[in-house]
Amino acid sequence: MALQADFSSQAYFRNPAAEIEKLRAAGPVVEVRFPIVGTVWTTTTQDLADLVLKDSETFTLRKDDGVVAGFRWWMPGLLRTLANNMLSMDEPDHRRLRDIVDEAFRRRAVLEMEPRILALGRELAAELFAAGSPADLIDQYARKLPLSVICELLGLPLADRPKFSAWASGFTRFTGALGFLSVIPNILAMKRYMQRHLEAVRQDGGEGLIAELVRAEKEGGRISGDEIVAMVFLLLFAGHETTTHLISGSVYELVKNPGLRNWLAEDWSHAETAVEEFLRFISPVQFTKRAISARISSLPASG
Ligand code: HEM
Repeated sequence: MALQADFSSQAYFRNPAAEIEKLRAAGPVVEVRFPIVGTVWTTTTQDLADLVLKDSETFTLRKDDGVVAGFRWWMPGLLRTLANNMLSMDEPDHRRLRDIVDEAFRRRAVLEMEPRILALGRELAAELFAAGSPADLIDQYARKLPLSVICELLGLPLADRPKFSAWASGFTRFTGALGFLSVIPNILAMKRYMQRHLEAVRQDGGEGLIAELVRAEKEGGRISGDEIVAMVFLLLFAGHETTTHLISGSVYELVKNPGLRNWLAEDWSHAETAVEEFLRFISPVQFTKRAISARISSLPASG
């Protein structure tokens, strides 16, 4: 029987480690029920996670008919288009798409953005402090900073940032199928916006990663129009939702632990170590996407 851990409860979000410990105690491969995704088997050890993630002969992200594993019958076709991103693609399509954007994420390219990211961070922090107490860290800072950075990286107008913010924040607050379907109008509005923006870039040229994607589309069709839309959605979400939660989770830990806060405040050169540790400790992403296998019996039995 599937373990009834509630991955959308307050209890889980407040202490994911405790719930994950229960999964570990149940065995190396455990059947669990996720909201929206349904019943799946999850690995609870590093070795098994490595095995599932690296053995692309045994585990694939898509079924033989090309549909993404875990795609539910009630999900609208619009999501099928958006799921056509590299995160849910097996090789060689994953590599084809990844190669187009890899350059933008190299260390050098990211370091070049550092002064601009620092300036944005300072500007938002100044606004946050100027507004006084109580302050909404998520709305005023943790969501705005990564969203601004990813908009700049993509070459999307900063003036449209509040629009993305409103669309995007609705996407992450649902925990069931009904809530999931209620955000479809937002996704549709965003998709239409992207298509219009892409058309303008195709006609008049543009800046940032979107202009590079359009170049790749023109140069022998290395990426299709639908794949560009899916890629931009992926980058917009992967690039900001994760970082929003890393920032807010880190601040929460610092507020709870004055000793830790003093350690950081006394010597700012600790910041790099702090971010590394927060990344491990807070883990904005705790589970990966679904994979399927025709040879599932090769895994150890559930405990
Ligand atoms: C705290 C920050 C972040 C965390 C914890 C995080 C975590 C992850 C994880 C765990 C994956 C693998 C997901 C899977 O295969 O199931 C992933 C993939 C990805 N992330 Fe992030 N991420 C973060 C920030 C970012 C940012 C800032 C960007 C873009 C600007 C980004 C873009 C991507 C992309 C494009 C993929 C898919 C890569 C591929 O399929 O080759 N992420 N991220």
